[in-house]
Amino acid sequence: MAETLFEELKRYVGFGADDEQSLRSLHELARQEFPAISEVFYDHILQHEGARSALAGESQVGHLKVTLVAWMEQLLRGPWDEEYFLLRCRIGRMHVRISLPQHYMFGAMNILRQELNRIIDQRYVQQPARLFAARMALGKILDLELAIMLHTYREDLLAQQARSERLSTFGQLVGSIGHELRNPLGVIETSLFILKGRPLATDERAAKHLGRIGEQVTLANRIVTDLLDMIRDRPLKREPLRLDEVWKDALTSVHAPEAVSIRAEGLEGLPSLQGDPGQMRQVFVNLLENAVQAVGEKGEVVLSASAGPEKVELVLEDTGPGVSDAIRRRIFEPLMTTKARGIGLGLPLVKRIIERHGGSIAYAPREGRGARFVLRLPFQPSTP
Ligand code: HEM
Repeated sequence: MAETLFEELKRYVGFGADDEQSLRSLHELARQEFPAISEVFYDHILQHEGARSALAGESQVGHLKVTLVAWMEQLLRGPWDEEYFLLRCRIGRMHVRISLPQHYMFGAMNILRQELNRIIDQRYVQQPARLFAARMALGKILDLELAIMLHTYREDLLAQQARSERLSTFGQLVGSIGHELRNPLGVIETSLFILKGRPLATDERAAKHLGRIGEQVTLANRIVTDLLDMIRDRPLKREPLRLDEVWKDALTSVHAPEAVSIRAEGLEGLPSLQGDPGQMRQVFVNLLENAVQAVGEKGEVVLSASAGPEKVELVLEDTGPGVSDAIRRRIFEPLMTTKARGIGLGLPLVKRIIERHGGSIAYAPREGRGARFVLRLPFQPSTP
């Protein structure tokens, strides 16, 4: 039978039966300390502002501490089989899904390495051969863990590449269809304008239907614009960008039911950024429209802004149902939608615009109910 990826990885780092034995012995010595190690691990993450922002809040940290203890149990007790590999891939994908930068993994793994090596050094101080074997085995298994985590990031990158190739093939087709649709839509709009001025429009039912046609033409135009924006990057302007002003301007295009409150905190105190106010307005409009639709007739949409030394962070939260696990992974993919109206270009466009400003956007589950988007924008974008 062909060698599996995990078998190949184990062969590559030379992980064998002796290492398994050493890890099982270490498990007996170290297991009481797992909860304390888990505390040290998350204290370290919480001290770093970038890493901390990947976490949704204290209750999530509480849960993660427990899962890390289980993770260490399995790390040292095995069995190190295909099921182990698949479980570790699932955990890796969780980090990919929350867009956790890969480099945080190395520092985090090092905490575990240091803590477990400390136990090895203390417990085997009189037994140099066992000490050496345990350190070797631990080094190998933690390298395997890192390899699996990086493998899941690579998987994601390859999937993204495949998607962007698919998109570029369809892009040209979509572009020309989009252009071709503009003309008939333009004709409908003009005819509608003329009809609205005719006696026909005084008939109540006819007027209602003319109104409906108008709404649908606007919607169709919006879809065409989004499609065209998606396939050809509009050049990015570089000018002073006041997010509070862009936000106020975006609010004028978003219609929310009366019992839905939309507010922003901390925007006015932000320094000016460099960027494209028109495109950033679209970011706010798309996010707000999604949030308002998710909230329904009653609820809250809140944007909280804060400035770090190099970046501005914006967190948009709503009290809607949130995004299910299944959708979360694909939420920024084009044509991914859960709405009856809409073709799934809103969030991909938002992501594209934020990234072209040198920033990032991620979905992070909100404590309790609702959706939470975290946007980060540098003061000075470095990308062209
Ligand atoms: C050696 C490194 C790491 C290990 C072994 C590890 C372990 C785990 C495990 C076992 C889970 C699954 C939890 C569950 O089953 O619900 C998980 C999820 C998670 N980890 Fe890590 N982690 C590592 C690094 C990090 C770092 C550096 C961060 C943040 C800075 C982080 C943030 C998270 C978050 C937010 C989740 C939950 C994701 C979700 O619910 O979708 N992890 N991690």
